[in-house]
Amino acid sequence: MPGIVLIGTQWGDEGKGKITDLLADQMDIVVRYQGGDNAGHTVIDGSQEFRFHLIPSGILYPHIACVIGNGVVINPKVLIEELDGLESRGVSTDKLLISCNAHLVMPYHLILDGARELKLGKSKIGTTHKGIGPAYADKTSRTGLRIQDMLDMKIFKKKLEIVLKEKNEILTKIYDFEPLDLDKIVTDYTGYAKRLEKHIADTSLVVNKALDESKNVFFEGAQGTLLDIDHGTYPFVTSSSPLSGGACVGVGVGPKRIDRVIGVVKAYITRVGSGPFPTELDDEVGNTMREKGGEYGTTTGRPRRCGWFDAVILRYANMINGLTEIAVTKLDVLSQFEKIKICVGYEHKGKVYDNFPPHQTIVHKCKPVYEEVGGWMEGLNNITNYDDLPKAAQEYLARIEELGGVPIKMVSVGPKRRQIIFKS
Ligand code: GDP
Ligand code: IMO
Ligand code: MG
Repeated sequence: MPGIVLIGTQWGDEGKGKITDLLADQMDIVVRYQGGDNAGHTVIDGSQEFRFHLIPSGILYPHIACVIGNGVVINPKVLIEELDGLESRGVSTDKLLISCNAHLVMPYHLILDGARELKLGKSKIGTTHKGIGPAYADKTSRTGLRIQDMLDMKIFKKKLEIVLKEKNEILTKIYDFEPLDLDKIVTDYTGYAKRLEKHIADTSLVVNKALDESKNVFFEGAQGTLLDIDHGTYPFVTSSSPLSGGACVGVGVGPKRIDRVIGVVKAYITRVGSGPFPTELDDEVGNTMREKGGEYGTTTGRPRRCGWFDAVILRYANMINGLTEIAVTKLDVLSQFEKIKICVGYEHKGKVYDNFPPHQTIVHKCKPVYEEVGGWMEGLNNITNYDDLPKAAQEYLARIEELGGVPIKMVSVGPKRRQIIFKS
């Protein structure tokens, strides 16, 4: 069973970092396949907290090779800061490999991300301002610069000179910014290249060889299903494909290599940034979820919008990712509530939708159809056996399984590694 993909089933921040770290122990390689440093994956190892943005959440285990695949967009400055930060805390990063085909986030991407959001005003996407959208746009329009371009700074400069002419026109004429200096960027990226050179590799070959040898490869998704560029709540999405299918393209492996697809499911829903959110709670219940769940962005510190669990979303995530199992996280946060609601459908103009509506107006305007179940009102943080969970918590989980049509294999009851229940 060597190829395992882990994905977020909602709008991100489901606890992917925690589950990746937990399972990484049994892996040989952990690989990121899309996104960039818009991701923020939290791992708690003993008393230490780590927040990973570009580096896979398996890096804490010295036996694991960590790979940043071709589908990721890399801000080299951020990557170097992350590497230095880990080294200074005694974590070796020697076994990190970076795909030579991954695209670079450039200084103009960062500026354009912010400037476009500002221009959009109230209609803004609420991006992380990490330059992700503009970097993927350049990749698609074939004007991007890649990691491998940094291995030959002459070529890098030639390509940049052409691109920068156009970017500077946009920056100065449309957004009223100062133009960027070619030589300054070349000097900065020459420094980054020197620091990162030893990590650059043909990562698709490395991962395929490992799979040939029946080694365990873990594909760590970033973001979540509803932030997918094709299948998410467009345009309030990110610019890559966080789905299980994205793992094949973002690393360079065939679909037959994937044996398991684990969906990470938060026991309620959160979202950062703009866009529709049918079960959002703009009240005391939502505030309690935010405070008890520590729902503040790992990357930007923004408060996350909170709401009840939504089975329509889980069914959709199951369908488009081909989930083999799910890990339910943050069940402990729901210990606060006497009554808990589960959204089982969306009602719009007298019609009830069990499946995620294809027309987004419905997602914006629908009313959630709720089922109410009893809460358990007791702490779960120290429970390690499924049978020891309160009966009401077991019933809640059983209903999630039933509505989602996918078995639960793990239940997380706290942020620490040991706060996990395996379910047979
Ligand atoms: P990711 O982006 O999917 O990796 O998730 P984040 O790390 O951005 O956000 C998840 C947050 O919840 C982090 O602060 C985790 O430490 C925390 N967390 C993960 N699992 C649990 C859990 O089961 N219970 C609680 N209370 N916190 C958790
Ligand atoms: P992890 O991996 C939650 C959201 C942003 C915004 C939208 C577009 O930690 O789950 P972008 O900067 O990607 O152009 O922003 O996507 N977003 C995330 N939300 N978790 C993430 O990553 C996210 N990465 C991007 O808030 O709404
Ligand atoms: Mg996160």
